[in-house]
Amino acid sequence: MKKERIMIFDSTLRDGEQTPGAKLNASEKLKIALQLARLNVDVIEAGFPISSPGDFRAVQQISRKVKGPVIAALARAVKEDIDCAWDSIKDSEKPRLHVFLAASDIHMQKKLRKDPDTCLQEAVQAVRYAKSLTQDVEYSLEDATRAREDYILRVVEAVIDAGATVVNIPDTVGYAVPQEFGRLIHLINTRVPNINKATISVHCHNDLGLAVINSLTAVENGARQIECNINGIGERAGNASLEEIVVAMKIREDHYPFETGINLQEIYRTSRTVSKLSGIPIPINKAVIGTNAFTHSSGIHQDGIIKDKRTYEIINAELIGGQAAQMVLTARSGRHAVRHQLESMGYNLNDEEFKRLYERFIELSDKKKEVYKEDLEALLIDVSFAEPTYELDYLQTISGTKTVPAAVVRLRKGEEKLEEISSGAGPIDAAYKAIDKITQINIRLENYNLRAVTRGVDALGEVSIKINHEDKNIIGRGVSTDIIEASVKAYLDAINKLINMVAYNNNNK
Ligand code: KIV
Ligand code: ZN
Repeated sequence: MKKERIMIFDSTLRDGEQTPGAKLNASEKLKIALQLARLNVDVIEAGFPISSPGDFRAVQQISRKVKGPVIAALARAVKEDIDCAWDSIKDSEKPRLHVFLAASDIHMQKKLRKDPDTCLQEAVQAVRYAKSLTQDVEYSLEDATRAREDYILRVVEAVIDAGATVVNIPDTVGYAVPQEFGRLIHLINTRVPNINKATISVHCHNDLGLAVINSLTAVENGARQIECNINGIGERAGNASLEEIVVAMKIREDHYPFETGINLQEIYRTSRTVSKLSGIPIPINKAVIGTNAFTHSSGIHQDGIIKDKRTYEIINAELIGGQAAQMVLTARSGRHAVRHQLESMGYNLNDEEFKRLYERFIELSDKKKEVYKEDLEALLIDVSFAEPTYELDYLQTISGTKTVPAAVVRLRKGEEKLEEISSGAGPIDAAYKAIDKITQINIRLENYNLRAVTRGVDALGEVSIKINHEDKNIIGRGVSTDIIEASVKAYLDAINKLINMVAYNNNNK
């Protein structure tokens, strides 16, 4: 059966940019617009040009440089706004003027202090004027879901007569509930005599968390354009999330006999780009694109996923261009899950190697509740699988603003336990000096690097160092949630390698 095409109108750069705290400059807007074109949205609402000279320039640049989607600019129903919007988009290969005016009594009376007939006249005049500039004119009835139905029907018919090719029904304050909104769209679709000359669009805000379901219900009742934003950003609680809408239609195509032109593979990248440039983080549990959307934590779920992904996963991360589902390993995950995760990362350890790694995994999962792939990788680096000469048995350091930094270090060397104390420029320096006293090896520290390898405040720190002994340079690495411990492990790792190297050279002389 041929599916009906739903147009996706992206307003991330206009309504999305109205998110408190989000401000994008012209080059950031252009980057996002280019990415939206790769995502293959049908319309990019690039901005509200009259609102500032910066916004005007951003819309103009997008209109000139972004090919593919229609480029829309927003304007109030006044000549000055429409002229400004037109100036900004006239160089686009597919320009659209988007004109809006209030439709609810509360907006008309309290905000505009105008009566409905005056507003209707202004709407018609504005659409006629916009139409004299371009073919593609969209008209929005602001706050439609709190407007009187008979007035909505009159306005929709009049603006279509005046030349509007798209009529947009916004739920401006996110007040509608699905059945009621669906009924309104059905009413417009069946009662407005000239409705076949225009596309019905919807634009839902998320104040009650219903923006996506309202949009989908509208489509079931005759809407053929959905206005939505990447990551659902927008005024107050935001707008309908583009990614949730298109993925819901895809995953439940048995229910929704529609299709969009969206290139699903670009969703992940678009979502991350918008978040990075707007500075608005993606909630961790956000449907479709939140980090946890593809993360399995409970032991029962992990077991199910290992046996068959479909047990607990309805969306495949690869569908949206994301990374395959992650299992967050915890102390309760069990050997099977840890081994499975390692194998999926390409590591096939023998039983002895796995035993050592698993011991370290249990130690780590005690300190750090969740163990990610990157943590396992860091543990693999740490477990060198060669017998070390010195192992850390005990470490205590003191440091502070008015204290001389000092360290007590105890190392195991076979059956022996060797302990030393030292002061230093800082706790790490003190610990290194204490180790030097124990090993009696003359070492110069050439290089020291620390980086967080995993997420969160309890992230693992990886220390990599370079030491020099006589003519040899040796790299050592250590990993721990405690950076001083990671530093000491890195130092010992380098010393153990040095000892092995010297022994090897002596044996082969
Ligand atoms: O929410 C709204 O009503 C709008 C219109 C300008 C379309 O953003
Ligand atoms: Zn809006």
